[in-house]
Amino acid sequence: MNTQTRDAILADHVDVRMIAVDDDTTSLDRNALVQLDPEHPGFRDAEYRARRNRIAELALTYKSGEPIPDAAYTSEEHDVWRTIWKALQPAHRAHACSEYLSALDRLQFDSDRIPQLRAVNEKIQAISGFRLEPVAGLVEPRVFLESLARGVFLCTQYIRHHSTPLYTPEPDVVHEIIGHGVTLASEPLAQLNRLFGGAVKRAPSPEVLERLARIYWFTIEFGVLRENGSVKAYGTGLLSSAGELEEMGRAELRPLDLEAVSEQEYDPTRFQPVLFCADSFDAMYEQLASYLGA
Ligand SMILES: [Fe+2]
Repeated sequence: MNTQTRDAILADHVDVRMIAVDDDTTSLDRNALVQLDPEHPGFRDAEYRARRNRIAELALTYKSGEPIPDAAYTSEEHDVWRTIWKALQPAHRAHACSEYLSALDRLQFDSDRIPQLRAVNEKIQAISGFRLEPVAGLVEPRVFLESLARGVFLCTQYIRHHSTPLYTPEPDVVHEIIGHGVTLASEPLAQLNRLFGGAVKRAPSPEVLERLARIYWFTIEFGVLRENGSVKAYGTGLLSSAGELEEMGRAELRPLDLEAVSEQEYDPTRFQPVLFCADSFDAMYEQLASYLGA
């Protein structure tokens, strides 16, 4: 991979939901909905910002249980989706675990067009009972994680800026759908998300929440496991990024020990230098279910 490509995808996996944010950055001013950082690839694109505002408004007026309104994506944005699929298809074949590949097959995405959340949501609900609800942008980690207990995944609907198809500084619809959406179309993975939500609801202190957030990060977002003698990904941050999947082989692998994981710091702005590897899908499920209090 050349340096430019590597830099462009370096933060493709960033899930800012998992970084504690102060209340000021999560409150949304209806008149200035999308306040992009000057470093954001879409900062200078007024049309992109206006489109993001319209998508954010869909979320702000959304009522739980209603059909999710469709977002108006441009042809450039559908091209972003196509470019990502082109990079991801071989990476998935090489590095995704079989549970993920089966779930992906159930959702039958069109590789040429960004699917609407409404359609993805209908399929996921029929499979696991989980449902997607649109959110305008950042939500606090506790709110995001607790909603999982109710079988609700709070989901962004905008897509990254078309100038950087393989890079996004924040979770977008690509990460949500190709990462989380697919795993929620797997009954055991959906169940683990519910268990995380329950454990977070019961967390008696910010310290316990922090430990659970680290475990979420190194399993649901960046988990790997052994399958037929190879290391395969089941983490959404890996599976929604061809760059992450390519880098996965360079990480130091440690056995999945949830006490150790709960102490492990991470830097969401870099490729992960350490990953925790379960002995199998079933072993991962059993360890997490018993830790989270199933
Ligand atoms: Fe994520």
